Amino acid sequence: MTDKVDQYYDVALSLVKTCGNLISEHINGCKSFVLKSCDIDLVTEIDKKVEDTLVGGLSKAFPDHKFIGEESVADGTKGELTDSPTWIIDPVDGTMNFVHGFPHSSISVGLTINKEPVVGIIYNPILGQMFTAKKGQGAFLNETQIHVSQVKEFATALVTFEAGTSRDPERFKAVLENYKILVSKGHGVRTLGSAALNMAMVALGGADAYFEFGIHAWDVAAGTVLVREAGGVVIDPAGGPFDILSRRILSASTMELAEEISKNIVQFYPERD
Ligand code: IPD
Repeated sequence: MTDKVDQYYDVALSLVKTCGNLISEHINGCKSFVLKSCDIDLVTEIDKKVEDTLVGGLSKAFPDHKFIGEESVADGTKGELTDSPTWIIDPVDGTMNFVHGFPHSSISVGLTINKEPVVGIIYNPILGQMFTAKKGQGAFLNETQIHVSQVKEFATALVTFEAGTSRDPERFKAVLENYKILVSKGHGVRTLGSAALNMAMVALGGADAYFEFGIHAWDVAAGTVLVREAGGVVIDPAGGPFDILSRRILSASTMELAEEISKNIVQFYPERD
């Protein structure tokens, strides 16, 4: 199995590197975009080009593999998670950043086998950060091994968090309540505008935790492998196992920190993927 996963990873990595140029060449200046689910959920031509290149290249190399891609799902293709090797792709995670030229956008490519995330690649081509992980083989930034921090207490944790890309009033209430909780109880809050890069920061030890309600599988599939391989945990925000289709995630450097954050935050349950 390891040999096969290594082969899948090598093909994906080379495609991700190629696609990185599409993002870095177009980062400057305001991009044209169209709206998806609401006025803060955007897609650009580059999102579509990157996804087409990745899906095209991977399906040519591995014809029996399945795909769940953000833009294909938005176009109406039903993404289904089965036991088959399944590539879960966000071609530009942080599209809002990309549109504005804020240099935190990434290509996020995860692979699940038997529904379990086994490969994660998160690439911010603008800052030259290539985060990679394979199950059982550690997590890396530009080929140097990375580890989560050892922070165990909420009071000393730097937490990444997002307002998200929907204006659902109930979700917004939870976001605002949680923002108050984070700034009053923790060390600080950061929002990079990319779920994948937030998780990469947890894996790197630059942030101690990240949670969000309303994300999709493509935002967090790669990050899940990365955080776990860096020694951290990924769970449901209310505690218990992480469910990749639940649209809820809490990742942290340690289980102690994850459990403390889980007990303190307001919960929200979006409709499942
Ligand atoms: C979004 C980003 C954002 C997060 C949203 C995601 P997109 O992905 O990761 O940080 O808050 O939940 O949907 O739309 O830029 O690919």
